[in-house]
This record gives sequence, C-alpha cells and structure tokens, in this order.
Amino acid sequence: MMPRWSLVGLFALLTAMWSPADVRAAQAGAEPPTWVEVAPIVFEACTPCHRPGGPGPFSLTTYREVRQRARQVVQVTRSRFMPPWKVDPAIGHFADQRPLSAGELDRLEAWVTAGTPEGDPAAAPRPPTFADGWLLGTPDLIVTLPEAFVLNADPSDTFRIFALPVPIRERRYVRGIEFHPGNPRVVHHANIRVDRTPTSRRLDAADPLPGYDGLMPRTAEYPDGHFLGWTPGQVAPLVSPDLAWTLEPGSDLVVQLHMQPSGAIEDVRPAIGLYFSETPPTRTPTILRLGSQGIDMAPGDAVYTIRDTYTLPVDADILAIQPHAHYRATEIIGEATFPDGRTQRVMHITDWDFRWQHVYRLITPLSLPRGTRLSMAFTYNNSSGNPRNPDLTPTRVLWGQRSRDEMGDLWFQLLARSDTDRARLTSEITTKMVAEDIIGYETMLTVTPDDVELHDDVAVLYLDMGRPLDAVRHFRASVARRPAAAPAHYNLGTALTMAGQVDEGVRELERAVELDPQYGVAYGNLGSVLLQQGRIPQAIARLEKAVALSPGNVEALNSLSAAYAVAGDTPRALDAIDKALTLKPPAAMQRVLRQRRDLLTRQR
Ligand code: HEC
Repeated sequence: MMPRWSLVGLFALLTAMWSPADVRAAQAGAEPPTWVEVAPIVFEACTPCHRPGGPGPFSLTTYREVRQRARQVVQVTRSRFMPPWKVDPAIGHFADQRPLSAGELDRLEAWVTAGTPEGDPAAAPRPPTFADGWLLGTPDLIVTLPEAFVLNADPSDTFRIFALPVPIRERRYVRGIEFHPGNPRVVHHANIRVDRTPTSRRLDAADPLPGYDGLMPRTAEYPDGHFLGWTPGQVAPLVSPDLAWTLEPGSDLVVQLHMQPSGAIEDVRPAIGLYFSETPPTRTPTILRLGSQGIDMAPGDAVYTIRDTYTLPVDADILAIQPHAHYRATEIIGEATFPDGRTQRVMHITDWDFRWQHVYRLITPLSLPRGTRLSMAFTYNNSSGNPRNPDLTPTRVLWGQRSRDEMGDLWFQLLARSDTDRARLTSEITTKMVAEDIIGYETMLTVTPDDVELHDDVAVLYLDMGRPLDAVRHFRASVARRPAAAPAHYNLGTALTMAGQVDEGVRELERAVELDPQYGVAYGNLGSVLLQQGRIPQAIARLEKAVALSPGNVEALNSLSAAYAVAGDTPRALDAIDKALTLKPPAAMQRVLRQRRDLLTRQR
C-alpha cells in the first residue's frame, strides 16, 4: 500500500494539472478521505457564501469550522438544500450551476463516517480568498440609502421597499448592477426595479423612516427587459454594451428587501453599484410573464395547479428565466413546445423554496422559432402536510403580492431578432400581461373591496384595454368610498364620457371642479366634452379656465381653438392654435391644428 504522504504529493501534483473535479474523481479510492480531499469540495461549493462577511450564517473556511458542523454538512448536501440551487440538475444549462456530484456527496459522507480525519495539515489546500468590495470592478456610480434602515428583533420575515434616487444629469446606458445587501446576515433577497415616475419616491417619503411597507407600484418596472433581482451569492455578469438598458435622469432604483431578523437589532444599508456603457444599446430584450393571478386555493388542498401558455409570434431566444412563487408552491415546470410538436423542459423545480429567488441565466441562449409554445405549470400544497405552509391551520389563499398570499409567475427574458419583431412581441405580451393583471386586481378586491387605490388602478388598466364600462364600474366604487375627493369624480366623469355616457360624465366633471376650483385638467376635460355636445359658450368658459390654471395643457388649447373657431372668434382661435403649436404637441394633434389654421386664414 502506498504511504499516505505520497498520495498527498500526488494530489498536489494533480491539482496543478487537472481541474479539482478530475482530481476528486481520481481519488475516490477505498481509503476514507481526509480533510485534504474534502476541503476542495467545501471551498468550491460552500465557502463563496459561508465565510466571514458572506451571506451564509456561519463560516466554512477551516478544518475546525467544517468538522464542527460535519453531520449537518452531510445532511444539507444529501438533501440538496445546500448549495442552494433549486433547478433539477438534469435541465443543466444555466450559469453559476454547481451541483455536487454523487461522488462528491459520497466523499463528504465517507469523511464524516470515518470521524472527520484531518490528514496532513501541510497538504491541505488553503481556503480561497475573496475580493472584498465590488466583484464587477469599480462601479461608475454607487447609489445607497442616505441612512440605514433599523430592523428590529421581531422574528418574522420583514419586507421593506426603498426608493433610491439616481443622481445622473443625463441619460445613461447600464451594462449591469452589483447589489450589496449592507447586512448579509439579515438580507435574504432583493427585488430591484426602476421607476421613471415619482410614484415610488412619494410612497417612500410618506413613511418617516427609510423605505416603506407595502407593494411596489406598477410604475416600478424591469428596465428594458432586464431582470435585476439579487439572491445571496449571485452576481449577474455585465451584459455586452449592445444589450445595455437606458436609465433616464430623475429615475429611482426601487429595492424591495426580504429580511430575516437575526434576533438582534440590525442596521441595514444596501448599496447598488452601476456600470455604464458609453454607447446606446442596439438590441433590447422583452420580458414575458406567464402565470395566473386568479389563484384561489381551498384550505387543505394538497395539489393545486395553475397553468398558462403563450405562443411566440416571432423567432426569439430565451436568455434567462426567473420563477416566482411564495411559500406554498412545491413544483415548478416550464416548457417549450416547438412547432414540430417536440417539447423541451426549460425549468423544473421539484422542491420550491421561497427563500431562493434565483434568476437562471442560460449559458447558451435557447433559440425558439415562431410558433413555439411556452408553458408553465406551478403546483401548490395548501395542506398542513406542507412544512412550508405558513398557516398552521390552512385557510383559503388568494392571489396577492403579500407573502401570506400566493403568486405564480414564470418570467422569460426573450430576445427577438429585429426591431419589428420586438415591437410585435412586446405589444402582444403587454396586452396579455395587462389582461392577467386585471384578474389579479379583481382577485385582490374580493379580499379588500374598500381599497380605492386598487379600484383606481384596475380602472386605468380597463381603459388601456378599451373597456371603459368596466372602468366606470370601478371608478364608481371609488367615488362611493370617498365622495369628497375631486380626483375620484374626475376619473369617473372621464371614463363615463369615454363610455358614451356623456351627460352623467359632465355632471361628474362639474362635481370635480366644484370640489376643487383649481383643478385645471378637470376644467379641460369638461370643456372638451361640452364642446362635443355643441354647448359652445359653456365650453369656452371652462377651457379658458383650464388654460389659465395650466398654460401647458395642450389638449385644452386645442379644444379652445376649435371652440373659438365655431363661435366665429377667428383672432382668438388663431392665437390659441399658435400657443398650442409652440408646446410641440404629438404629430396627429399638430396636423389638426395646422389644418384648422389654414381653414381659418383662408376664410378671412
Ligand atoms: C449561495 C450562497 C450559499 C452557498 C453556496 C452555500 N450556502 Fe449554506 N446557507 C446559505 C444561507 C443564506 C443560509 C441560511 C439559511 C437560508 O437562508 O436558507 C445557509 C444555511 C446553511 C446551513 C444551515 C441549514 C439550516 O438548516 O439552518 C448549513 C448547514 C449550510 N448552509 C451548509 C452549506 C454547505 C455544506 C454548503 C456547500 C455544500 C453551502 N451551505 C453552500 C448560503 C449558502
């Protein structure tokens, strides 16, 4: 038998020449492995997170540390709880995928069974070193919370949303971001979106402490078809400059943190490093969301499944996939069925865990010809037999964004082959997703029928979908719950006129300006409707008021010029047309204004 030292010497030699996996395979002999053979497995698969300052709850960097937790290490690796990677390894085409092989699992177990022998300490490999700071290099811009959020010791999961202003003066193109949780002990994952409107900022400002509780508004979006989530240990590589996303001045990064309290009071101050490209992108991905927002699970239902499909109208490549569900999901399936009938699994998780919200990036994009059907099926267990069910006594569970509700989304990052294809894909997908969003709102409203914001939001979506009668139904509900709010009457009045119920619409708009005599936009809409009804003097009075209150209201100026023209007041009509044209209205309105001007000057 070979003396021990020569095996060690051989190992050192092999390490220099072969990959660690080859070495481990070559060593799988009859002798129980020592720390010398086991360390490379741990260093590769565990230490990136389990190290001082890393996201793992303890370090696994030395013989002593690993020996101390040896049994647990075997348990969590055998059960594939660690390293955290939820997708069935057989699907196997994602970046960062490092499943332990059966041989590696056996070696870890054999080492523990043999009593965790150390072997020759001199031959043990050194733990890897990790660059502190930014893994993607020095960021071009770092955005952080002005002050830390203080997480209290309350043991339940905490969700908090922060709007971080991005201090840029001009449009920038972003190749990637690196997220630093600020306190890896408690931050478990982060959802990151971009809000080009002040909505998120206002929500954040309304809460005196950093951030706010609640939901991300619809205006917080994935920018230009890019996922921006973060889970411990994941850093998305920079995309090539041609795929960068556009960041406009005045935008906020919106960060939702899922935190698991440590038992002590903790400061949390996340930071985001941004990496810019100098040139504008030439290709933009599109995000498809498959899922159901009509989830309604009976208490105790152990097998509840939702499904959705979408057939691609153009050729496209899948770049990345992200599943999202809450605690009760168990199995997640994503498939592509090609036009020839062949079906390929693109995502399969048999043991979903809410705590691991990975983005799975394909190493090689998967090309899908047009006509390919993408499908998802998520299964949930809402019985007490599901150890992850947060309800000790199962209850009815509906779709909703709070963690006690359920969700089921499979997001695909798709890249179309041309701008025309992308436009077609994006517009189809938007319609599909808005239709599903509407179902989600209606579901939430069955639980909280008095939530006026939900009524208003879904009404706006109905208007987008060309369904003004449904919008009217929700705006009426909103008015009924806050009869003294001018905007509620304004919304209802506007939707009523769009639905052709003009007389009632006028009454509601009149009510809006009665409640708020400074309501310029309401005067504008009111005047335009009166003009359509042929009530010219009344229309002129309201439109003049609208323009006096908000001189930039180009719609009101357009209507006013028409009202003056009908009333025979050509000088005022021409003046209103000129003012409107200097405001650079959309092309269609410009044409109308110019035609009206030509007509009026010819008549003179
Ligand atoms: C991507 C980061 C990451 C990697 C890689 C990783 N862990 Fe973990 N590990 C965590 C986090 C975070 C937790 C805290 C528990 C949780 O959030 O699910 C954890 C928890 C654990 C626990 C405690 C489990 C329990 O029941 O509480 C053990 C044991 C563990 N890891 C061992 C390992 C081993 C062994 C490896 C390598 C084979 C490994 N981990 C790889 C991040 C990681």
